Amino acid sequence: MKFFIDTANLEQIAKAESMGILDGVTTNPSLMAKEGVKGNEAIMKHYVDICGIVTGDVSAEVLSTDYEGMIEEGKKLAALHKQIVVKVPCTADGIRAIKSFSDMGIRTNCTLVFSLGQALLAAKAGASYVSPFVGRLDDVSSNGIELVSRIVNVYRYYGYQTEVLAASIRSVQHIIQCLEVGADVITSPLSSIMALLDHPLTDKGLAIFEKATKEII
Ligand code: E4P
Repeated sequence: MKFFIDTANLEQIAKAESMGILDGVTTNPSLMAKEGVKGNEAIMKHYVDICGIVTGDVSAEVLSTDYEGMIEEGKKLAALHKQIVVKVPCTADGIRAIKSFSDMGIRTNCTLVFSLGQALLAAKAGASYVSPFVGRLDDVSSNGIELVSRIVNVYRYYGYQTEVLAASIRSVQHIIQCLEVGADVITSPLSSIMALLDHPLTDKGLAIFEKATKEII
C-alpha cells in the first residue's frame, strides 16, 4: 500500500520524505489556505516546491467547478511538473473533464467521492486515482472503510485500473483498516503516519536495551 501525506506544509512533507516511506502528496484548497498560499502565482510555485521535495505523485486540485475552467486549469497544473496529478471533484463536469484529461494523457485524482456509483463513474472516465473520503463518511454515521472495501472489490472484479486512494484519514485505525481491505494508497496527516510507530513495549524494550548497552560498552 502506498503512503501519501495529506498536507501542503513543506516542513511536514520534507519530514515524511526523509523517513524514506513517502510515495506522494495530496493537497486541497483548504490545505493550501491553511499554509497561507494565496494567488495563482503563489499556488503554482507551491506545487513546484512540493514536487522538488518528493519523488512521487502530487495531487493539485482545480479550483474551477465548470468543465471549461477545469480543463484550462488542469492543463496548466499538469504542465508544471511531471509528478502533478490533476485533482478533480466528482461532479458531472468533473467526470467529463476526467475523461478529457484521460484522452490527453493527463493523470487525474477524482476527489470528494462518497459512494460506489461515483467511484464507478470515475473509473469509467479513466481517473488514475479515486479518493473516497473515509473520515467524512464516518462523521455522518456512515462507514468510510466499508466504502473503500466495496470500491476495491468492484474495481478488481471488473479490472478497472483506477487506484483506490483512501482520503480523509483521521487515525492509525483508519490506516490499518485500509491496509486490511486492500486500498492501493492512503493519504494521511503526518501525525497518523508517525503514530503507526507508537507502542509502549517498543519504548520499554528500548529503555531496557539502552540500560544494557551502558553495561557492555
Ligand atoms: C485528500 O485528498 C482530501 O482532500 C483530504 O484527505 C480530505 O481530508 P479531510 O476530510 O480531513 O478534510
